[in-house]
Amino acid sequence: MATKLIAVATTGGDAPGMNAAIRAVARTAIARKLRVTGFERGYAGLLANEHRPLDARGVGGIMHQGGTILKTSRSEEMKTSEGISKATEVLKENAVHAMVVIGGNGSFQAACRLHEASEIPVIGIPATIDNDLAGTDTTIGFDTAVNTALEAIDRIRDTATSHERVLVVEVMGRNRGFLALEVGIEVGAEVILVPEMAWDIEEICRRLEGSHHSGKKSGIVVMAEGAGNCMEIADTIKAKTGFDVRLTRLGHIQRGGHPTAHSRLLACKMGAASVEFILEGRRKDMTGIQGGRVVPVDLQYASNANKPIDDQLYRLADILAT
Ligand code: F6P
Repeated sequence: MATKLIAVATTGGDAPGMNAAIRAVARTAIARKLRVTGFERGYAGLLANEHRPLDARGVGGIMHQGGTILKTSRSEEMKTSEGISKATEVLKENAVHAMVVIGGNGSFQAACRLHEASEIPVIGIPATIDNDLAGTDTTIGFDTAVNTALEAIDRIRDTATSHERVLVVEVMGRNRGFLALEVGIEVGAEVILVPEMAWDIEEICRRLEGSHHSGKKSGIVVMAEGAGNCMEIADTIKAKTGFDVRLTRLGHIQRGGHPTAHSRLLACKMGAASVEFILEGRRKDMTGIQGGRVVPVDLQYASNANKPIDDQLYRLADILAT
């Protein structure tokens, strides 16, 4: 009997640790006597039938690298039924036994449709700096992005204090505030704005004025990109308080760089688990991490369900910032 072929692709926005996940998928599959191929540029390479075999040496020396050696893209075509049919044909033509998709919720929604059309098992590995997938405590790349943003904001605090300024810092997260909340508490931000919690500009100004009167020499506002218009917020704070206000948008700096130890370990565990899930006969699951253990989570649920923000952490941030 021919050795079964597993396909792997990195899709959507890249996240530090994706390479460690590719390596773990390939090496676990090889150890379990399976063959592995990697589609290039995410779903774009799947639709174009562009892939290359991955062997143990071919995935060497990549664990510490940010980005993804397979490249990635966002695919509009995979949102259409024509795209799903084309991708199904490519998987069948190559006799792919199962597909591992390393990405975020948009990628997983397409993966679910691909599974329905092709009946080929699809396992998702959650890799996004947004940490917005349900059924998993965290995602590959989140810890790295948190640390990158944290280091940047620590530097911003230095100059803000020297000049006695208020700095509004916008972090990524799309329409969710996981990154902003975690970074905000860890840098001791005076104000944290996330899309999940209502905020009021008068209250933000009162808070910044209060902390100034209590002796603080700088004010940091960490806001998620989905929480509002950062330029308007910075301008309004300046107009209402008279403070010297500056704005920094951290942007794509948060997506690059060497993955942290935490992101690497998570990628190793999840990459290996994805292959084991396939061998166990799982058909449409995500490798979630819950309380330190990798568990199967329905892929549809993971990409559609609302993951709640930790409101206890939000309240704690509020208390600690006084
Ligand atoms: O999903 C990851 C993410 O970095 C979001 O935080 C951000 O909103 C988006 O991707 C940016 O996407 P792009 O790199 O395509 O502009």
